[in-house]
Amino acid sequence: MMQGFTHWHPTRVVFSRGALNELGRVSEGLGKRALIVTGRTFAVKHGYLDLMRKLLEEKGVEAYSFPQVEPNPTLSTVKKCVEEAERVSADFFVAFGGGSVIDTAKAANVVYTLGGSVEDYLYPRTVEASLRPLIAIPTTHGTGSEVTKYSVLVDERTKMKVTVSGGALYPTVALMDPQVLVHLPRDQAAATGLDALSHAVEAFFSKRANPFSDMLALEATRIILENLPCAVEGVLDCREWMLYASMLAGYAINFTGTNVGHGLGYPLTTRLNLPHGLANAMILPGAALYYEALVPERARRFLSSLGLSYYPGGLRELLERVKLAVRAPARLRDLGVRKEELGEYVEDALRYQRNLQNAPFSVEREHVVRIFEEVY
Ligand SMILES: [Fe+2]
Repeated sequence: MMQGFTHWHPTRVVFSRGALNELGRVSEGLGKRALIVTGRTFAVKHGYLDLMRKLLEEKGVEAYSFPQVEPNPTLSTVKKCVEEAERVSADFFVAFGGGSVIDTAKAANVVYTLGGSVEDYLYPRTVEASLRPLIAIPTTHGTGSEVTKYSVLVDERTKMKVTVSGGALYPTVALMDPQVLVHLPRDQAAATGLDALSHAVEAFFSKRANPFSDMLALEATRIILENLPCAVEGVLDCREWMLYASMLAGYAINFTGTNVGHGLGYPLTTRLNLPHGLANAMILPGAALYYEALVPERARRFLSSLGLSYYPGGLRELLERVKLAVRAPARLRDLGVRKEELGEYVEDALRYQRNLQNAPFSVEREHVVRIFEEVY
């Protein structure tokens, strides 16, 4: 029997080189006052903040900015963003940045529009009410956040990754301009590209996968395998394809969520400050052990759909190869983690049941221990 699904996706996607120049046009009808949310340097250093202000002001929109989002943004950052939206009475948001920036703007929009505090909206609650418009402009090729219903944040009190999610979080517009990616540093190209890969792989190896999400995940994986190495080298055509693939993988995880790669990867980010995409990529070869052992027919189909032959250990080797091709760290021990600390990583990971429960097998403590040992 085919796995059923529900598909509803309200985001208008505009994807082309130079699409950023359409900002004024796509903002028409969204309101008179925009809050532009960005990271601390990229948008300012490369002149994008000034350009966006100009494009909005040409259409009679007053533009304000919140250029204060850090990597792995905290709930406090969301609160500051809400305060700024309140101060300027923003009618809509423009989020220009990687996943951190887009996720901050999404969560701030929830709180700004619906009231209360960000803690009120964390998973397991889902948010379906309609919000203020939000235009997401990705500047990395990994997150997929421009088309997802998720905002991933750090709760600084518990040091846990938390999420705000639901249909309300789909951006109004995803303005996708590959040209913006010319400035993406190599290390961020590698890390964010590996995040897109982990979305695609975890979407395929998910108990919530369906034929539609499989199509998206497989096509995303195919494009990423072909284009990630040259994207890291800075070839714009490759970065353009990566931006497209990261979007496809974003659509896929709207159906499936993420599972072992993200659940076990989060502690590497919260404890070691390892970039999110690298963290997932460290874990995936270990996760592949169980994907191959416990859902072998899926592993077989994954590899054959990519034109690769199946053999025991083949999935793991593939994931290891991609990671090393972009010079990501090889093993956990290379990051200065001591073997006796692995127990703490296991405990942390087991707290991410919202991810682990999406795995295509029932994830027990023994699996988590073995995966960390395998990638150590
Ligand atoms: Fe991710």
